[in-house]
Amino acid sequence: MSSSVPVIAIDGPTASGKGTVAQRVAAALGFHYLDSGALYRLVALLALERGVAADEAEQLAQLAATMRPHFAGDRIELAGRDVTDAIRTEEVSAMASRIAVHAPLRAALLELQKSFRRPPGLVADGRDMGTVVFPDARLKVYLTASVEARAERRYKQLIEKGIPANIAALSADLRARDERDSRRSAAPLKPAEDAYQLDSSALAIDEVVAQILDWYRRV
Ligand code: C5P
Repeated sequence: MSSSVPVIAIDGPTASGKGTVAQRVAAALGFHYLDSGALYRLVALLALERGVAADEAEQLAQLAATMRPHFAGDRIELAGRDVTDAIRTEEVSAMASRIAVHAPLRAALLELQKSFRRPPGLVADGRDMGTVVFPDARLKVYLTASVEARAERRYKQLIEKGIPANIAALSADLRARDERDSRRSAAPLKPAEDAYQLDSSALAIDEVVAQILDWYRRV
């Protein structure tokens, strides 16, 4: 049953604009939306709060297997607590990237991710949606953008929120995360062989969304 439900997988590096694009594509089609990065962030938050270290793979997997996050619109709750903002801090971002290298943790999140596949369809955003989690996705998109363009976008987002930021530090951080995501042996960040690749450095979000919807109509 679930495999007949269409999935659009949108993968790519940190700050490539995947999240916004995936949400808009989902809204345009009336599909569900999975922010898989949020699941890694939730585990990172729990680990930081409970004193589990980034290299304790089995304990991290245990946290992942037992957490019961609740997605309500664009809010995320954990055990009745709204953690939407708590999982977006730089500390949690760094921890999420570090723990995501562990195969047992990734395996523990697999079923939870697959459970988001419900009619009429799903748009899933992450690093391994097209390669590992939904290899039979109807459309796979690999969204990239230059480090400069991504650092610039993140800089604007932080400044808009009143959070002080520095472009050079953001670029260095993006490079470090790209490196970790691409080099890890468990589900490394790479385009699926059958993915449509799109460089969004010089494109507006609307253009990226329109391109993906156009591809989806043709597959
Ligand atoms: O996409 P986002 O930045 O929220 O993801 C947080 C971290 O989780 C990333 O740095 C990445 O290392 C990891 N991640 C992953 N696989 C996914 C989604 C996120 O390894 N499918």
